[in-house]
Amino acid sequence: MHNFNKSNGLTLLYSIQMAVLNIPDQNVQITDFQEIKAFLSERGILLEKWEASVPFASDADQETILQAYAHVLYPYMEKNGYKTADVININANTPNYEAIRNKFLSEHRHTEDEVRFFVEGQGYFWFNLEGSPVFNVLCQAGDLISVPANTKHWFDAGKENPHVKAIRIFSDTSGWVPHYTESGIDAKYNPA
Ligand code: LAC
Ligand code: NI
Repeated sequence: MHNFNKSNGLTLLYSIQMAVLNIPDQNVQITDFQEIKAFLSERGILLEKWEASVPFASDADQETILQAYAHVLYPYMEKNGYKTADVININANTPNYEAIRNKFLSEHRHTEDEVRFFVEGQGYFWFNLEGSPVFNVLCQAGDLISVPANTKHWFDAGKENPHVKAIRIFSDTSGWVPHYTESGIDAKYNPA
């Protein structure tokens, strides 16, 4: 929706894309943001759209990125008692990407909320919740997702050419340890 195009060879852009919700076993795909938000909200998962207050370069440092979202980020953190935020960057040059991918590809829980805001790139959050068919949410640039503590989930940024630049928001980074469920359900949905 917002595009700050190239000026003097410096790319100043962020483009906002829309989340997509998929229910593979039912061949259902939801692309309407409000509908996705409502579906998730009924299941305790928060989805929001955030926009940067100023454009920033694609190689902007962590502080610049956090500042660009400060108007929404810090009030959100304060309201929910979150204490720290950082920016992670995963791309084709990330060493040991396969190991990183595998770590999150198995169903797990955390003892704290998992809150991620996608600055660039994308990834799939998968859920196998009580009373719901397995579904995934493709989160893209501009999407904030908050997965409540103890919610079973797994995550995939793709086998090849991963691209995730995301703000991570924590109440206590020590809570962000995956506790694997060993359900095996993920293997039925993950590409080999
Ligand atoms: C995590 C995700 C990606 O635990 O599920 O960070
Ligand atoms: Ni997780």
